[in-house]
Amino acid sequence: MLDFDLYMPTRVEFGRGAEAKVGALVARQGCKKVLIHYGSGSAVRSGLLDRVKGALKDAGVDFVELGGVKPNPRLSLVYEGIALAKREGVDFILAVGGGSVIDSAKAIGYGVANEGDVWDFYDHCRKAEACLPIGVVLTLAATGSEMSMGSVITKEEGMQKRAYDDDLCRPVFAVMNPELTMTLPDYQTACGCTDILMHTMERYFTNCGTMEITDSIAEALMRTVMENARILLRDPQNYDARAEIMWAGSLSHNGITGCGGDGGDWCTHMLEHELGGMYDVAHGAGLAAVWGSWARYVLDDCLPRFVRFAKNVMGVSDASDDRTVALKGIAATEDFFRELKMPTNLRELGVNPTEAELQELARKCAIAAGGGRGAAKFLREADMLAIYRMALDA
Ligand code: NZQ
Ligand code: ZN
Repeated sequence: MLDFDLYMPTRVEFGRGAEAKVGALVARQGCKKVLIHYGSGSAVRSGLLDRVKGALKDAGVDFVELGGVKPNPRLSLVYEGIALAKREGVDFILAVGGGSVIDSAKAIGYGVANEGDVWDFYDHCRKAEACLPIGVVLTLAATGSEMSMGSVITKEEGMQKRAYDDDLCRPVFAVMNPELTMTLPDYQTACGCTDILMHTMERYFTNCGTMEITDSIAEALMRTVMENARILLRDPQNYDARAEIMWAGSLSHNGITGCGGDGGDWCTHMLEHELGGMYDVAHGAGLAAVWGSWARYVLDDCLPRFVRFAKNVMGVSDASDDRTVALKGIAATEDFFRELKMPTNLRELGVNPTEAELQELARKCAIAAGGGRGAAKFLREADMLAIYRMALDA
């Protein structure tokens, strides 16, 4: 095991009706003015936004609002939010939505609290020194952004989707009412479950030593997500399953499933981020579309972990040789994605890149990775291209 540093500053208010507490939670921050940030309409249609505004008014909190965040949140709206927040003297941002809204709020928080162009952080030219405090009312269990250090923004020019990780943006509180996710389309629920699984899988597939307690938590989390994702397939209004998935989403990306490890692999995420940037696909679906190809490509460099995953998570029980067991684990994972109606190749994802586009994806992915990345197997541009090619028709 390796030494680790775990920072989890987020207060969690979890359960039915939890959004009623948002006024008190914000008032406790002692802020002067809040920016309520939200998406393209779901929070308006469900009445959640009105309830949040009502709670802030009741608590005597002054606010302005900015909606319109799209999935794969865009830099132009971030700039708009920064200008609005500076003009209005905003000192706290309340994100009401899913990962895209939370990430956009984090980017606005960086932009207000630091001089210069906020894109510099996502372009990794410099590091942020501060971020406005962020609060969250979560409506989609998926990214874990409600507790994570991550934020992912797409710059329209060149459709570059880039992540910036920094503890500064970890939300101060997250309001999580599983009932709020019951209005999600089945596709978004499935994308969310896939993303949650993948955040733990990225940390799990590594060649460095990890800790037994971390591996056990990770395996339990992955099994729990699969079990409850299946329940939601036939019973989307099941509160307990919604709750299991929502809490798993936070635990999967707040750092707890990586303690003692080397930070994880993250190549599936890097490969997906380029697809999200270029083709605007849903994050979870993009992950499912490339994971199997990534897994088969790196398998021989990380065999013991794939064997353990196959046995402890996917329930592969036969006594074949290790490689066969590992391949059965990969196939079972893809079967699970198919059950969720997730794609397992690029064509099913709805994209059909030309060879030139595959090369462009690999080139951009390698740049974003600083030349290369990977803990299961270190991947460079040529490896990334090989995986994209495999994923075309896998
Ligand atoms: O915009 P609205 O109208 O709200 O609709 C959204 C959107 O269309 C809808 N939705 C959200 N909650 C709903 C709802 N519809 C009905 N009922 C509800 N309760 O769902 C759609 C997708 O929302 P989005 O926020 O884009 O999804 P998600 O939470 O999966 O976020 C994806 C983004 O987060 C990034 C991804 O790359 C992607 O850009 N990630 C962020 C991470 C982080 N900050 O730590 C880590 C992840 O690995 C990921 O990369
Ligand atoms: Zn993710």
